[in-house]
Amino acid sequence: MSNEPEIARLAACGVVPVVVIEDVHLAVPLARALLAGGIDVIEVTLRRPAALAALETIAREVPEILSVAGTVVTPAQVTDVKEAGAQAVVSPGFSEAVDDAMRAAGLPWLPGVATASDCMRAVAAGRLTCKFFPAEQAGGTSALKALSGPFPQMKFCPTGGVGLNNLADYLALKQVICVGGSWLVPADAIANRDWARVTQLAKEARERVKALRG
Ligand code: 3PG
Repeated sequence: MSNEPEIARLAACGVVPVVVIEDVHLAVPLARALLAGGIDVIEVTLRRPAALAALETIAREVPEILSVAGTVVTPAQVTDVKEAGAQAVVSPGFSEAVDDAMRAAGLPWLPGVATASDCMRAVAAGRLTCKFFPAEQAGGTSALKALSGPFPQMKFCPTGGVGLNNLADYLALKQVICVGGSWLVPADAIANRDWARVTQLAKEARERVKALRG
């Protein structure tokens, strides 16, 4: 596995909430609700205009949570998220351009892979810890096991279609360091400021991770 401390924190938590945030004012209470449930990492996806401001606010006001930028697909976005204080970056796929930008930024990066060709490019770039995306749609645990045949040195964070129902199947694999998912942070719970629900979902997931890991 990568020896970067930020990646170690994702692995220690075991679950990474993948957030789509519409309103910057919701970022801090959301991060606190996750922390209250025992999750100390948050991936804010760059899918809405509020995302960069949300990352900035979380990094400044909730330093206890690891702020991760997600859906980073261009070199310009790498610069933006670094400026916003992101401590690590996740992408849905791999590109040499983003790989170069990430090297220049000096932040840990989980590029996305779904196929053997993706893995070949990631490994060639020395990126041995990757997001497996979209996990369920790309073949789930059986695809992941098959990819680990030719790429035994790789570790993965499966994301896409992962939830409490199949979390255990992924975390049981030695090549899986953590899983990601939006089930922890439902859009309606965020919009309705239902922080108790977010905390409850976080607790359930963390309890499941702890039970699995013994
Ligand atoms: C992601 O961007 O990582 C995925 O959209 C999250 O997938 P999920 O919504 O199926 O958890």
